[in-house]
Amino acid sequence: MVLNTAFPKLKLKNKLLLPIVQGGMGVGISAHRLAGNVAKLGAVGTISSVDLRRHHADLMEQTEKSRDKTLIDAVNLIALDREIKAAKKIAGGNGMIAVNVMRAVAEYSAYVKQSCESGADAIVVGAGLPMDLPELTADYPDVALLPILSDVRGIALILKKWMRRNRLPDAIVIENPQYAAGHLGAAGLDSVNDPHFAFSVVLEGTLKLFQELGIASEKIPLIVAGGIHNPQQVNELFGMGASAVQLGTAFAVSEEGDAHVNFKQVLTRAQPEDIVTFMSCAGLPARAVKTQWLSNYLDKEVKLQGKAGPKDCTVGFDCLHQCGLRDGIAKAGQFCIDTQLGFALKGDVERGLFFRGSEPLPFGNAIRPVRELIDYLLNRVNPTLVAAR
Ligand SMILES: Cc1cc2nc3c(=O)[nH]c(=O)nc-3n(C[C@H](O)[C@H](O)[C@H](O)COP(=O)(O)O)c2cc1C
Repeated sequence: MVLNTAFPKLKLKNKLLLPIVQGGMGVGISAHRLAGNVAKLGAVGTISSVDLRRHHADLMEQTEKSRDKTLIDAVNLIALDREIKAAKKIAGGNGMIAVNVMRAVAEYSAYVKQSCESGADAIVVGAGLPMDLPELTADYPDVALLPILSDVRGIALILKKWMRRNRLPDAIVIENPQYAAGHLGAAGLDSVNDPHFAFSVVLEGTLKLFQELGIASEKIPLIVAGGIHNPQQVNELFGMGASAVQLGTAFAVSEEGDAHVNFKQVLTRAQPEDIVTFMSCAGLPARAVKTQWLSNYLDKEVKLQGKAGPKDCTVGFDCLHQCGLRDGIAKAGQFCIDTQLGFALKGDVERGLFFRGSEPLPFGNAIRPVRELIDYLLNRVNPTLVAAR
């Protein structure tokens, strides 16, 4: 059953939605089960497009030992198609099914096109500036387009470029690198906490920018992401001009989250001192739990960076446009991100890379259904209090 709230609905294309977005989480952390169940409640569920074959035994069997990029890419498109269709089936026409595609991924255009063909309601692009998204999706005018950006400068660049093509984003996700999980929209590790990323600064600056560009403020909803974990924050952010909130970590650990239960426990049990930022091989800062693998890697990082040099992709997948390990970029991470994220999805606590935001979780260590999470954030219904009655 769809949930309700007293907050104004989020309007995307012609849909009225709960003002909650479940952020896309790769590899495989947000697939059809999570996205479908969030959408079923009337909110926005997002599938992460990258390397979804990992959820399909038949496709994995064909490619696990293969170094044939063409084959791996082809089965990943099959997996993406299956995941979108399965999510839409769970959603039953409620909410919205979005697909997250990272600009930094080599198969970005193919993932965008497949998502549109398979019936995604929205495409959300982060980890780079999606200047060409309007052209890529020109044949699918009903698909909502949402760039993920972190500061007013990035928003201005996208708006000006897209306006030249007579297109506006259907909403903008503003992700604060100080708190968010995964890849962060800051130039380097030293700028992650820069005050110009604060929600208040970006929301105010964006509304001013809209005025300068002659865009009515209600035309492009602003969705804020990073560190949101209680209804008071949600209320405050709506008061500052946000139209919806996006959460990642809290959805990753929900009952319906598509990862192994060990994955969820690594995230829920992490203490503030266990959460670190470091350079990813994608050349962006990233935030994750300092597990055994990450700790060992960070101990060796300087040495590995000193030896960086171009080489073949270690798994033949060439998943990134630019990879610090393959391309020998010394200032970037020196590990295979797809391999480490694949371990995490399967619950391999020793070898996995576990992305996580910096802030506490709404329900502490508890793994609860997405319905309770959304009801808590929007309607202040606290499941622990309900259970104790
Ligand atoms: C495990 C995990 C994987 C993520 N992967 C992606 C991704 O592939 N693409 C993306 O744009 N954002 C990714 N994110 C970021 C989320 O979509 C979301 O914007 C962010 O986590 C919000 O911050 P929060 O975790 O503090 O709520 C990921 C987050 C997590 C926790």
